[in-house]
Amino acid sequence: AKKVKGVPEAKPKPVKKVGIIGAGLMASQLAQLFIYRLGVPVVMKDIKQEFVDKGCAYVHQEFQKMVEKGRMPEARARYLSSLLRGTLNYDDFADCDFVIEAVFERMDIKKQVFAEVEAVVGPECILATNTSSLSVTEMGADLKHPERVVGFHFFNPVAVLPLVEIIKTPQTNDLTLATAFDMAKKLKKTGVLVKDAPAFLVNRLLTKMLVDCLTMVDEGADFAQVDEALLGLGLPMAPFDLLALVGFPVAYHVAETLNQAFGAERFPLNANFKKLVDAGKKSIYVPGAKTKKVDPEVEKLWV
Ligand code: 3HC
Repeated sequence: AKKVKGVPEAKPKPVKKVGIIGAGLMASQLAQLFIYRLGVPVVMKDIKQEFVDKGCAYVHQEFQKMVEKGRMPEARARYLSSLLRGTLNYDDFADCDFVIEAVFERMDIKKQVFAEVEAVVGPECILATNTSSLSVTEMGADLKHPERVVGFHFFNPVAVLPLVEIIKTPQTNDLTLATAFDMAKKLKKTGVLVKDAPAFLVNRLLTKMLVDCLTMVDEGADFAQVDEALLGLGLPMAPFDLLALVGFPVAYHVAETLNQAFGAERFPLNANFKKLVDAGKKSIYVPGAKTKKVDPEVEKLWV
């Protein structure tokens, strides 16, 4: 077999149970993917029962959709659904071999959940993070076993996009890295090894493009004009729709991380975008409208 750059010779660890910390947009998509591709039990934890219920409902619904599309028999969907367990308690993670966190993008919260889960899992359980831009090295710095920490960064929609960025820290050991690549392969994703640098590889480029698109609107372009131009170039999705898919707060957070790391000349922030984030806007366009119309509130906020 062709050797993939960066994959160590070490034998990967078998993964028989997966833990997911968080039950939000990315976490629930991860739960669905892990169950579907690995066929192993998955436990998904959040801090409120309503978040857990919502995440679990998403997974069951995605399996139902596959049945409706004729992609699996009803009995298979029922079996896969039965592999998911929602919880509020880390005790259910004790026998996991691979845990991935997809909680809110804040270093203190990510460090806290890693410390909490490390207290219940075995010393060789892989601790992966789906962070979009934060330092994976720092996330593992206070753990007893930082050598089992790795970045495993997926892209939305997880079921469709083939990429997973695999982020190695100076501490990550060969067993962890080999297991991460093996997991990517079993999940039918393309694992690409990237440096633990701010926003890694894809989000650094993607955020640059999205912020520049907003700046062009500052400079007089219409939202629709920018969208049409880039769709015409062959992007699978118009940039301002992509911004809504990523989520305004997440995109702004990545832009801030890059701004702080590399300076405003290379990664400027966009003041109008900040206003939309602060106002809780989720989209440039009127949600659900048949033809695209810029949300009047967005027009009002934009100067
Ligand atoms: N969940 C599951 N499946 C989905 C889905 C979702 N949310 N959205 C679309 N799909 C599936 C559809 O069911 C369909 O599957 P099928 O052909 O097997 O039935 C297939 O994807 C194609 O969907 P559509 O025909 O509805 O739509 P498009 O062909 O226009 O594709 C798209 C939709 C895949 C979302 C495409 O527009 C795309 O690739 N967009 C770019 C997305 C992107 O760049 N994401 C990266 C964001 S950055 C990120 O996530 C990182 C984070 O850290 C910020």
